[in-house]
Amino acid sequence: MIALIKQLSDEADLLAAGTPEEVEALRIKYLGKKGVVNDLMADFRNVAPEHKKEVGIRLNELKTKLQNRINELKAACETVDARAEESDLTRTAYPTPLGTRHPLTLVRNEAIDIFSRMGFGIAEGPEIEDDWHVFSALNFAEDHPARDMQDTFFIEAHPDIILRTHTSSVQVRAMESMKKPPIRIICPGRVYRNEAISYRAHCFFHQIEALYIDKGVSFADLKQVLLQFAREMFGADTKIRLRPSYFPFTEPSAEMDISCNICGGKGCPFCKHTGWVEILGCGMVDPNVLEASGIDSSIYSGYALGMGIERMTNLKYQVNDLRLFSENDVRFLREFVVEN
Ligand code: DAH
Repeated sequence: MIALIKQLSDEADLLAAGTPEEVEALRIKYLGKKGVVNDLMADFRNVAPEHKKEVGIRLNELKTKLQNRINELKAACETVDARAEESDLTRTAYPTPLGTRHPLTLVRNEAIDIFSRMGFGIAEGPEIEDDWHVFSALNFAEDHPARDMQDTFFIEAHPDIILRTHTSSVQVRAMESMKKPPIRIICPGRVYRNEAISYRAHCFFHQIEALYIDKGVSFADLKQVLLQFAREMFGADTKIRLRPSYFPFTEPSAEMDISCNICGGKGCPFCKHTGWVEILGCGMVDPNVLEASGIDSSIYSGYALGMGIERMTNLKYQVNDLRLFSENDVRFLREFVVEN
């Protein structure tokens, strides 16, 4: 009997199973009611009394060993099972980390959403423009300082070709191509100015222009759209204030401030302790501009507005150095992960 126990003990070391079913079959074979161990227990009765002690010990050792081995096999099957559940065989073997949306894109998309809910479509125009679309058609006088070399990038061999300094040029393109009001568009895009690069100025930045032309459009319509935009963009309790201003292409013109959403209007370094931050220029489209684009100013009127995307992004995310937007530093970009 000792020899048989020894043989079974060696066998126990070699037991193997790949599935929980195979483990169960082994358990039944060795430890089940009619299993090998129970058979041995039954035979134990016939062992001579002087051997009983030793055989008893060996038999118990065998039982424990088999139990341990079977438990081990069972545990191994379970972890394989769990891993199989975790792994997704459709996943690529070479995962590419997902990027994030650029903060300027986030804000631009949000502005587009807000304006499209108010019925505005999107219009686009070229970044390399001519003088007519950027200045002349927008009622800039020949000697207006904005045409100055310090502001505008000219192309040396073609003084008429410039990099657009504002998205207002797309107003002209939209009026020229759509011809008949109603025209209700926004134009998001990049603009260029000959500025020394610093934390607060850059040689390129981004704007969103809006233009609405129809019969009977009034300043009250403009004001309502501005208020609605400010509330949706910066929060329901945002206040707006309009200050008289001057732009060649609008008459009357205004600049809009919103209550500083960093300090809630109490005053902080960002709003220079005034509680207000300027975010856009606007006004009623000057009749000269309508006429220059072939729209009868005795029938139609309209409003226009233009805002800086960087400015709004600074306000929303408190970015205090404009250069961060174009450096492509992933540590900065990673801060703008949004849940989809
Ligand atoms: N184009 C102006 C700028 O770049 C912003 C602007 C002001 C646009 C008034 C408008 C407007 O449409 O009506 O500073």
